[in-house]
Amino acid sequence: MKILGIESSCDETAAAVVEDGVNILSNQIASQVEIHSRYGGIVPEVASRQHILAIVPVIEQAMARAKVAWKDLFGVAVTAGPGLAGSLLVGVNMAKAIALACRLPIIGINHLEGHIYAGWLTDSSIKFPLLCLIVSGGHSDLVLMRKHGDYVLLGRTRDDAAGEAFDKAARILELGYPGGPAIERAAKNGIDSIKLPRSWLKGTSDFSFSGVKTALLRLVEEGKVSNRLDAAASFQQAVIDVLVTKTVAVAKKCRVEQILMVGGVASNEGLRQSLVKNSPIPVLVPEPLLCTDNAAMIAACGYYRFQAGRVDDLGFDVLPALKLA
Ligand code: KG4
Ligand code: ZN
Repeated sequence: MKILGIESSCDETAAAVVEDGVNILSNQIASQVEIHSRYGGIVPEVASRQHILAIVPVIEQAMARAKVAWKDLFGVAVTAGPGLAGSLLVGVNMAKAIALACRLPIIGINHLEGHIYAGWLTDSSIKFPLLCLIVSGGHSDLVLMRKHGDYVLLGRTRDDAAGEAFDKAARILELGYPGGPAIERAAKNGIDSIKLPRSWLKGTSDFSFSGVKTALLRLVEEGKVSNRLDAAASFQQAVIDVLVTKTVAVAKKCRVEQILMVGGVASNEGLRQSLVKNSPIPVLVPEPLLCTDNAAMIAACGYYRFQAGRVDDLGFDVLPALKLA
């Protein structure tokens, strides 16, 4: 069962063909990073216009790489939310046009659920109950997954998401955009030597990252940061400590079989190593290309949705504030 996946929720235009939810036949991504880096962050209007320019070539590349014809597809899966409304509209309308022209079933996918299905592209024998840590630009969620399509939100960020904190810290340290990879690169050449606070929010499974970001800002404003590389290493370690400690504690409490970490921040090497090292429970983290936004994860999620008999009609809308649970 071959599914065409389309993703355009933020600043990547992506299309992929995935077979049976696990086998990636193609995974094309057109990144807008260079364009938005001029502004130091994503400009929504620019993002949607770029999606318009990129979406047809990206889908054509995905189909050609996968060596499939339209008639070989079972259906189309497209990110319906959460994300930037204008960006989501480009992918959703393209998917609707394909579904209509090729008489294919269509399914709107929750982007966060898509991130989780990068796990199945990595290891199709994942065991339930599963604790998912979704760490992206907009989310830091701890989600208990008991079976396909069954989610319980156990914890979330109360302020900045982990990726957002990385992006803001990189701006404070003038390390460039996007912030996560910039902090990681700087941290590799720095030493975790600056004392920064960790918000534990004891007694809850929630996260908070605005305190550590503000503490970093104060130090910079007071001229107490002489080495930006050390500051990056210290900031990164503070975020990693909280994410890993809290995730492992929740996983033990819920007696899950496995931990799955996904989302753009999960591509951070230090975080990946720390979670694997500190968890007595088996940890699965997809390769970095499947952690950051891509369409293979959307197609994989679509496969499981179609299998469960779910189909949308062509009238469905984009849902910029869509929740997973
Ligand atoms: O999942 P994603 O690609 O898009 C969203 O759904 O938001 O995540 C993007 C976020 C950005 O905040 C980016 O700075 C962060 O993931 N990120 C990283 C790394 N690569 C991307 N954060 C830390 N270390 C990285 N290597
Ligand atoms: Zn994402």
